Amino acid sequence: MKIFLDTANLESIKKFNDMGLVDGITTNPTLLSKEKGDPEEIMGEIVRTVKGPISLEVISTDFEGMMAEGRRLSKYGKNVVVKIPMTAEGLKAVSALKLEQIRTNVTLIFSANQALLAAKAGASYVSPFIGRLDDIGEIGMDIVRDIVTIFKNYDFDCEVLVASVRHPLHVIDAAKLGAHVVTLPPDVLAKMIAHPLTDIGLARFLDDWKKVSSSSSAPRLTVPR
Ligand code: E4P
Repeated sequence: MKIFLDTANLESIKKFNDMGLVDGITTNPTLLSKEKGDPEEIMGEIVRTVKGPISLEVISTDFEGMMAEGRRLSKYGKNVVVKIPMTAEGLKAVSALKLEQIRTNVTLIFSANQALLAAKAGASYVSPFIGRLDDIGEIGMDIVRDIVTIFKNYDFDCEVLVASVRHPLHVIDAAKLGAHVVTLPPDVLAKMIAHPLTDIGLARFLDDWKKVSSSSSAPRLTVPR
């Protein structure tokens, strides 16, 4: 399963990218608004930092506007994927951008039917927002299950990108269902790395080693030649 980071924060992106964990990035206007600095420069820097697909979202809601923005955003780099909202105008733009070889990620997906239509229109990714469904008392992961099944049935050339992830259990569930990608807020990825037993185990190893290496009666280790 591919892991994308769901952030526009360059510090987090560089940190996890250096660990070899980042296959791509998703941004949105809200995430960009949280960062200091010019959003255009931030987007450019993200595209240069991570080699994988970088989703940059349009602000326009009409077809012509989305096309103009999509063309402009795609110039940031070959790895740009234009994020388009799941609307009738959006589907039209997805279809037209595909003819221009511009890849799209259809965002704000809240049903399997929406995902099916986005894939048919020619999206490269669909982004079901599972956390926001959980927030209103629906089981977000249920639509991921349906979308994965539908895409397999018809062999759609479109990846299921699980978005609005709130905690590590969402990642396990998405992986068990065979979703292609999860996009994670940096704090969720950090939680996946950590385990209290790892910390306790490491502290014990280091303490025990200190006892051995500081005792004068203990045999000294020599590096084999
Ligand atoms: C994904 O592309 C979206 O940017 C993101 O996952 C939305 O998450 P949220 O519901 O936490 O805002």
